[in-house]
Amino acid sequence: MNRIYLDHAATSPMHPEVVATFSEALGAVYGNPSSIHGTGRAARKALDHARKTLATSIHADDNELIFTSGGTEADNLAVFGTAGKKDGKHIITTVIEHHAVLHACEKLERDGYDVTYLPVGENGCVRAEDVKNALRDDTILVSVMMGNNEVGSIQPIAEIGELLKGTNVTFHTDAVQAFGVLPMDVDNLHVDLLSVSAHKLNGPKGIGFLYQRKGTDIAPLLYGGEQERKRRAGTENVPAISAFAKAVEISTTTMQEKTTVYKQYKTIFKTVLTKCGVDYKENGSNSMPHILNLSIPGIEIESFLINLDLAGISASSGSACTAGSIDPSHVLVAMYGEHAAESRNSIRFSFGLGLTPEDIEQAAEKTAQISQRLALK
Ligand SMILES: Cc1ncc(COP(=O)(O)O)c(C=O)c1O
Repeated sequence: MNRIYLDHAATSPMHPEVVATFSEALGAVYGNPSSIHGTGRAARKALDHARKTLATSIHADDNELIFTSGGTEADNLAVFGTAGKKDGKHIITTVIEHHAVLHACEKLERDGYDVTYLPVGENGCVRAEDVKNALRDDTILVSVMMGNNEVGSIQPIAEIGELLKGTNVTFHTDAVQAFGVLPMDVDNLHVDLLSVSAHKLNGPKGIGFLYQRKGTDIAPLLYGGEQERKRRAGTENVPAISAFAKAVEISTTTMQEKTTVYKQYKTIFKTVLTKCGVDYKENGSNSMPHILNLSIPGIEIESFLINLDLAGISASSGSACTAGSIDPSHVLVAMYGEHAAESRNSIRFSFGLGLTPEDIEQAAEKTAQISQRLALK
């Protein structure tokens, strides 16, 4: 069966050129970049080259990047790293953050910190005004994601950055879903810390970075060697970092085109559903082009996803699976309320490399058939 993969927000296939860069580097670039001999220097050269490409993609300086094992570690480093350096005990974040931020904040609450979780409207967006109103003298960190991973809603990062300018508050954004999809300039956004992960944009899994603005102090999570200017101990994964840089090179040059294509995919998908008479509602507004989250009244998400899977379509509820069952999405609960039907009947389709308009049409037709069949039961 020809499977149609519509779960690129969960993870994405590696681009063939990224696979080529990765496998070549795995064989050839095996030196330790901290070694002073020629083999080490070759690894250092590859690392420096990749670092430059990645830093340039967000308009940062090379030494402002800290390589991590992915988005989760970058988010944890931002939250715990800030708490480890600053004196205040108050943090502001949002109810729709990824668990990499939410669970880190919850841990800090258990350690005596006070965390304000800002609400979102039905559009899935936080208001910059609410950030302003939540600020206190002892606020040390504001962490607001750039694009939500479940409904795709884009948050007002530049506006929040502007209002935090000149304060002592560190501003972090989790850009894991938005990187490679939205253009990014850390100066225009006025962010101090920004998290990125390679596997969301056709790079390898297990590699990412935290951008740390010069002058922003964070404590390390890991202790050991002096890698990453003593900010993250451990020998750098040079092949993965080189492959990451290749993925970013490709995604930067194709960003405009991808935006147009994914917007078309959204239109195709929704047009087919409408034509087939499916009653649906789109969750989240001002959303990133690659994420389409739909609420379909009458369906129950678990059996819906299973039926889609049997029909060869990989999609997701966007929320976590716990012990084989799907918890109601914390994002949809935040948008619509605890008992809202949307938190149990919504499905996320996310687009990426290798899809064609025909795939989207076919997937939408199957979605329509399945939703009508299940709604009849
Ligand atoms: C918004 C967001 N933040 C953080 C993460 C975690 O990234 P990683 O899987 O690289 O640890 C994800 C991955 O799903 C994400 O979507």
